[in-house]
Amino acid sequence: MQDVPPTTPNAGPTSDSRHAGPSAEALLAAARQAADHAYAPYSGWHVGAAAVFAEAPTEVVRGANVENGSYGLTICAERAAIVAAATAGLRRLTRIAISCRDKDGTLVAKIAPCGACLQVIAEFGTGDTEVLIDGRGSFRLRDFLPLPFGADSLKQPPVSG
Ligand code: THU
Repeated sequence: MQDVPPTTPNAGPTSDSRHAGPSAEALLAAARQAADHAYAPYSGWHVGAAAVFAEAPTEVVRGANVENGSYGLTICAERAAIVAAATAGLRRLTRIAISCRDKDGTLVAKIAPCGACLQVIAEFGTGDTEVLIDGRGSFRLRDFLPLPFGADSLKQPPVSG
């Protein structure tokens, strides 16, 4: 969990005292609901994501995986949520929850954001960005991606010689 002090004193029963926004359970519930809208005719995995951004800490932006017959063009739930949020002008990703059920409706706890999603999470997040995985726990982006490539890498001066 992040150690972010609440900015709203009475944010309501679904609020976590360490966050201005939704509790971990509320964020996971939003991810589970998002998974209901997954388009996953090939894998049968219904994944939902629920993201929170610093600009709108009480808002939750959802996404679901959208598969494609080409397989390779499949979009994961995390990226779907982040692209939706970015389209709404949100840029500073603080938390993202994911939830996955298999074709039988059984929770799949042993998941993690794929490499492509980690790169997109890193674009809008920081090492501190919380990654909540349904049935698995709370992690930080740096747990998965300790040395990200990103804007800072591009700012490095060229190596001489
Ligand atoms: N998937 C996600 O949406 N997010 C993850 O974190 C892991 C994988 C999707 C992609 C594909 O539709 C299905 O799960 C199986 O890989």
